Amino acid sequence: MTERLTPDEIGRAVELLRAGELVAFGTETVYGLGADARNGNAVAAVYAAKGRPSFNPLICHFASAATAFRYVKANALAEKLAAKFWPGPLTLVLPRQEGCPVSQLAGAGLATLAVRVPAQPVALTLLEAFGGPVVGPSANRSGRISPTTAQHVLAELGGRIAAVLDSGACPVGVESTVLDLSGETPVLLRPGGVTLEALEAEIGPIARAMGEASAPASPGMLASHYAPGLQVRLNATEIGADEALLAFGPPLAGAKLCFQLSASGDLREAAARLFEGLHELDDRAQALGLRCIAVQPIPATGLGLAINDRLNRAAAPR
Ligand code: TXA
Ligand code: MG
Repeated sequence: MTERLTPDEIGRAVELLRAGELVAFGTETVYGLGADARNGNAVAAVYAAKGRPSFNPLICHFASAATAFRYVKANALAEKLAAKFWPGPLTLVLPRQEGCPVSQLAGAGLATLAVRVPAQPVALTLLEAFGGPVVGPSANRSGRISPTTAQHVLAELGGRIAAVLDSGACPVGVESTVLDLSGETPVLLRPGGVTLEALEAEIGPIARAMGEASAPASPGMLASHYAPGLQVRLNATEIGADEALLAFGPPLAGAKLCFQLSASGDLREAAARLFEGLHELDDRAQALGLRCIAVQPIPATGLGLAINDRLNRAAAPR
């Protein structure tokens, strides 16, 4: 049985992590599947519970930038972005420090490590109390929709993990932005909760490493990902008889089932509701005989870049 812990039971969550158990926890982006990053067996159990390909490295979560930078070599850009955006939905890829105790399995054997400080008070208290690096891939089975509530986590991983620390719904709703600062120039590996525009305002132009690769630099770049059970059709301007609607702005007429991302066309609200919407349509469509989710056009600016990235993966052939 998976224990469902309340925020006043953080002590229990810490005890389980120390024992090498898996504890899912809420962040401001999505729920992460937590484990002690220094414990190779615990990290292996994370890959097993998710069914994740072993080449896909995990993010390490910390309570502060000062702690994170004991594990990776920060440079001037990293210091600047950490000061501006941490705690928050930004992940930095940096070279490991010598003697970094994070298991090689967690980093998939790479010389770099992805680190982040989440902006979720319960998560920060957990990380502070635990005192070490905690891996936290999204707490879903590999290739499936990311969880934004404890209920989503239990539906995906209940019985396969020790506990979920319930801190309520995730306010940002899409994963962190992953930025590689380990090379000559910064490279965007995954668009996410901190917009490209906001990052470029701080540090200037950022290269974009998007699209598919057979050995992806960031396996969040795998084409088919975040997939609901239904087919997904993007940029819909009319609705088919067997389609549910994921609406953005004034909804298309004629849908038997509709989930509104944001009636006013607000990208922040749409990001926060995206995975919840995919979960809900997926759960309800089958009973209605629907086979596809039609998605209304969403502008690819600001948080819309991350939203479109996730929807493109959900729509990719599988
Ligand atoms: O918002 C988030 O980042 C959530 C919450 C729970 O914190 N976590 C999350 O973790 O999305 P995960 O493991 O599902 O995604 C990690 C992403 C993947 O695309 C992975 O390939 C990339 O970061 N990544 C991790 N380590 C890397 C490294 N050393 N070099 C390049 N990419 C890396
Ligand atoms: Mg994920």
